[in-house]
Amino acid sequence: MILVIHGPNLNLLGVREPDVYGAKTLDDINNDLQQLAEQEGIELGIFQSNSEGQIVDKIHDAFQKEVEAIVINPAAYTHYSIAIRDALAMLNIPIIEVHLSNIYKREGFRHKSVISPVVTGQIAGLGVDGYLLALKQVIKIINN
Ligand code: DQA
Repeated sequence: MILVIHGPNLNLLGVREPDVYGAKTLDDINNDLQQLAEQEGIELGIFQSNSEGQIVDKIHDAFQKEVEAIVINPAAYTHYSIAIRDALAMLNIPIIEVHLSNIYKREGFRHKSVISPVVTGQIAGLGVDGYLLALKQVIKIINN
C-alpha cells in the first residue's frame, strides 16, 4: 500500500488561492491519483488532516503497518514541523515531498523545508502533476 498524506488547508483546494494552487479540488487530485494507482495495480491510502498530531499518528500507523511508500504534501507544516519530520525519519521506505507551488519562488519563510532532509526527493511547482509524478516514481522505486 502507498500512502498519500495531505496537510493543512489542502481540503480547501480549488477555493483557496486558486491563482497559487490551481482550480482543482482535493477530490479531483485524489481521483487522478486513484486512477493512476488502479492502472498500476497498486493499493492507495489517502489521508488529509489540518492537525499536526493526526498526521504524526498516521505516520506512526505507517511505521507499524504495510505501507511501502509515502507521498506527502505537508503544506505549512513543511516549514516548521519537527514532529512530522521526526516521524518520517523513523521510516525506511521511499518518501516524496510534493508542493503544488514552487516554494522557492515565494515568500522567504517558504524557502526552508524541515522535511526535505529526511525524504527521498521533493517536487515543487508542477501543480497537480507533481503528485502524479511522485506516485509514479515511488511505484517505480518499490517495483525495482
Ligand atoms: C504548499 C506550499 C506551502 O508553503 C503552503 O503552506 C501550503 C501548500 C504547496 O503545495 O505549494 O499550504 O505545500
